[in-house]
Amino acid sequence: METSTQTYPPLAAWLHWICAVVILWAMISGFALASGALPPAVSAAIPPFNVALTTLLMPVFLLRIAYRASFRMPPPADIPPAKHRLARRAHALLYLLSSLSLASGWLMMERPVDLFGLLTLQPSLEPGAATRALAKLHFASNVLLALLLSAHISAVIQHQRRGRRLLRRMSLLTS
Ligand code: HEM
Ligand code: HEM
Repeated sequence: METSTQTYPPLAAWLHWICAVVILWAMISGFALASGALPPAVSAAIPPFNVALTTLLMPVFLLRIAYRASFRMPPPADIPPAKHRLARRAHALLYLLSSLSLASGWLMMERPVDLFGLLTLQPSLEPGAATRALAKLHFASNVLLALLLSAHISAVIQHQRRGRRLLRRMSLLTS
């Protein structure tokens, strides 16, 4: 099988890291909020900030998926084919669960979304059984995404430790 030390195109790497920072922030701050452990002032500030930030991420995430479909990436050197197939499936699931968290988050909204004072978007659905079900779906999707992300980050650390320099493939600086 063709293998390579080729890096991701810079735009793909930028989109990966922008999405990673926003998703990790939304995940960690969202669960911290849900745990009830945060001071009241922080608890009040996080929801409007996160809702605006993740709404803005939606077009960026769509661009990421569309751009990803436009190029092929050879497997990293020294990865057995079965492991590479597993990684590809895990990556597809990461795209799917991230999309589900974004879509369910948007659709469960029962109040207008203020995009940092620039624009106000009205919710898509009337408050009711559907928005409540979508909130449950949002929670379930977030839990599954958190588990898969832990596996993703652990896998990258393990490969790095074994000398397979995956982070270099996702570098922002090289092409
Ligand atoms: C500290 C956090 C993270 C690190 C260190 C990391 C690292 C990496 C690296 C090195 C790759 C390239 C794998 C390869 O060589 O093929 C990769 C790919 C990928 N990462 Fe992450 N990542 C992180 C967070 C995230 C997050 C939050 C997401 C959210 C969905 C994510 C989704 C993906 C996906 C979907 C791919 C596959 C790219 C493709 O080929 O389309 N990563 N990540
Ligand atoms: C990948 C994107 C997203 C991630 C990782 C994420 C993560 C989370 C997490 C971990 C929670 C707390 C647990 C829960 O109730 O599910 C949460 C709650 C919430 N999310 Fe998201 N979310 C995302 C996208 C969105 C979007 C796009 C919206 C709306 C535009 C949204 C709106 C909300 C709201 C309103 C809450 C409840 C906060 C409160 O208690 O007031 N989320 N999110």
